[in-house]
Amino acid sequence: MAEIGKDLAKAKRLLETDELVAIPTETVYGLAGNALSAKAITKIFQAKDRPFFDPLIVHVPDFDAVHLYAEEIPDLARQLAKQLWPGPLTLLLKRKAVVPDLITAGMDTVGLRCPQHPLTLELLKSLAFPLAAPSANPFGYVSPTQPEHVDEQLGRKIPYILDGGTCRVGIESTIVGFEGDKVVVYRMGGVSVEVIEAIAGPVRLMTHSTSNPKAPGQLKSHYAPRKKLLLGDIEQNLLRVKHQKIGALVFQRAIASIPRQQQIVLSPYGNLEEAAQNLFASLRALDKMDIDLILAEPMPHQGLGRAMNDRLRRAAAE
Ligand code: TXA
Ligand code: MG
Repeated sequence: MAEIGKDLAKAKRLLETDELVAIPTETVYGLAGNALSAKAITKIFQAKDRPFFDPLIVHVPDFDAVHLYAEEIPDLARQLAKQLWPGPLTLLLKRKAVVPDLITAGMDTVGLRCPQHPLTLELLKSLAFPLAAPSANPFGYVSPTQPEHVDEQLGRKIPYILDGGTCRVGIESTIVGFEGDKVVVYRMGGVSVEVIEAIAGPVRLMTHSTSNPKAPGQLKSHYAPRKKLLLGDIEQNLLRVKHQKIGALVFQRAIASIPRQQQIVLSPYGNLEEAAQNLFASLRALDKMDIDLILAEPMPHQGLGRAMNDRLRRAAAE
């Protein structure tokens, strides 16, 4: 198992010698390596078992660093970053040549993000290079929101997990690109579409994407527990799935006909932020329960609920 601790100097030393370190962010834990080192980047793909066609997000300490890795930065990108960075927003920008092809999967854009976590921000500020960091889970599985989640799955493959506690937002960053004077949302996430529209005007959603060349990693079956998951009205799905031991994931109220200990309520008071924070840990917990099937109900379709529904749909995909 990996060592878990808060030793920033140690994390820095490891990263400077092309080793990987799991880092906390406000969204999910990332599996970080030197974004300018082919050796470190290759290790990331190997540890996650991730296909090389799926590009990585590059984490920077502030907006000034964006100019080192991207050019032709639209004014809208600047405005969004000004209001939402550090925060759960990734900007797809025209890459500069210093960004390795391995990072962008050969595409002409690079995803850049400044995460809002004090430990990781301090780490980024102390390094002479930015950090490539996909979510610290095996490819296709649920993202980790606690150091223990990382350790369970990748602990044998990495030397160190920087412990920043439980991730506050709990769902990955929103990924946006720019087309003319419009923002295009490629992945819904920790910043709601409503908040982006309040800053940048109406956006175009490009989030359903088996056929979306701009986000090759937006695969339909993703963010998935190992157990089968059905998304939809739970009472109705119960009628279809007799003779199975059921676990349920509900937003606010438990289902009367399912034993309470086989259910997880994401937010008893109906708070979408709280529900998002609990979502991935709950999927992991259900995956470990003695049940055959997970029934999940859709979240209210607003704010972070939309990003949660996106993740649940992908978790349900075959
Ligand atoms: O919140 C987050 O974004 C977390 C934390 C660790 O920062 N990171 C994360 O990374 O979710 P990952 O690799 O699990 O998901 C990033 C997604 C992938 O689906 C990838 O295809 C897409 O971002 N992506 C990255 N760079 C891209 C690019 N240049 N163009 C299109 N999509 C890109
Ligand atoms: Mg991921």
